[in-house]
Amino acid sequence: MKVGIVGVGCSKFGARDCTLQELAFEAVSEALKDADLAQEDIDISVVGCVGTRSYELMPAVVVNEYCGFSGKGPLRVEAACATGSAAVYSAFSSIKAGIAEIAIAIGVEKMTEVDTATSAAIGGRAGNYLWEHHFYGTTFPAYYAMHATAHMAKFGTTEKQMALVAVKAHRNAAKNPKAHFQKEISVEEVLGSRVITYPLKLYDCSPISDGASAAILASEKAVKEHGMDAVWIESIGFSSDTSNMTMRESFVGLRASRLAAEMAYKGAKIIDPLNSLDFATVHDCFTIAEIMAYEDLGFCKKGKGGEFIEKGESDFGGKMPVNTFGGLKAKGHPLAATGIAMVYEIVKQLREEAGRLQVDLKHYRALSHNVGGTGHFAWVFIFGR
Ligand SMILES: CC(C)(COP(=O)(O)OP(=O)(O)OC[C@H]1O[C@@H](n2cnc3c(N)ncnc32)[C@H](O)[C@@H]1OP(=O)(O)O)[C@@H](O)C(=O)NCCC(=O)NCCS
Repeated sequence: MKVGIVGVGCSKFGARDCTLQELAFEAVSEALKDADLAQEDIDISVVGCVGTRSYELMPAVVVNEYCGFSGKGPLRVEAACATGSAAVYSAFSSIKAGIAEIAIAIGVEKMTEVDTATSAAIGGRAGNYLWEHHFYGTTFPAYYAMHATAHMAKFGTTEKQMALVAVKAHRNAAKNPKAHFQKEISVEEVLGSRVITYPLKLYDCSPISDGASAAILASEKAVKEHGMDAVWIESIGFSSDTSNMTMRESFVGLRASRLAAEMAYKGAKIIDPLNSLDFATVHDCFTIAEIMAYEDLGFCKKGKGGEFIEKGESDFGGKMPVNTFGGLKAKGHPLAATGIAMVYEIVKQLREEAGRLQVDLKHYRALSHNVGGTGHFAWVFIFGR
């Protein structure tokens, strides 16, 4: 039995002056309208929220009540920055299990309720608190800086190549009205921006954003009954890794991403992603993360990610356009909203509704890649229409 996405919604990302539930409703109302469904048509609501930066400690209850899903929301899910994908997976699983015909996955995050220093301290506890943050004062930019320096040392990847990821992201986000940043930047501006954690500078980092997204999933039967237009979930791959970075095999890639991709490709019978997919959305929380993703997802060989961006292969018209909506880097990264915002982007593209950001479609298939923590969780979805 197939499961499809029949409606998507996404709030404007950025610093938002509203409550968590109001933010969620912005995405939910758009998704319901998009699917031409009402609250009573939904069997199960899954709320994804990391929640560590906001005052609402039991977000699922208030979000469900405000969005009209009281009584339909039995759970909240959390998988760090991959929470949105975990919510979609939970909704997908409930349909596959025959518990629901139509389910909604909601991802919502209010990150600007605390200041940057507090947010950095919380983020730095996302690995193994005792062995990392407590003793070494880790932060998220610091974790990814370790990936960047390892990649630079082993493969000669340059700060300029990383800067190109940011330039592409900002160029695309400038055309995306939902993006946190809608301003183009140059390589010189990236390289000249203030150092956050060497070699990562301000423009190598995703911002601290508020945002929400929602996806409505339906069984094949419900799609037919309601006469809905579906983007099908062809396969799902997932993996996870150790909490402690020192237990990892290497810092030049994410094993969880590689394993999740292998599983998703196997499920969708994909041997060569470049000749099977039209585009991809990948987890670029820092510019080095996008370069590692090209490699871990098999778009190029390990170590060649820097060249991949330099040759324009991840831009419009390249071998695999990546993050055409501006990525986490410039559209924004409200943790739990990110994975479902990727689904939003993919559905818009596959329906050819992406306007100025539309990619040319040949296969009508695309991939989303969502990472939680420093590869603590990884999800890869293959969608087709
Ligand atoms: C990089 C970071 C530390 C900057 O925060 P900050 O020093 O408090 O920056 P401010 O909020 O003071 O912003 C200063 C300016 O830079 C801009 N800015 C902030 N973060 C930015 C970013 N990541 N990219 C581009 N511009 C950014 C602001 O809009 C502001 O511009 P303005 O002066 O024109 O208004 C913060 O964005 C960060 O921690 N990012 C990483 C988030 C993270 O770890 N997420 C989880 C990843 S998995």
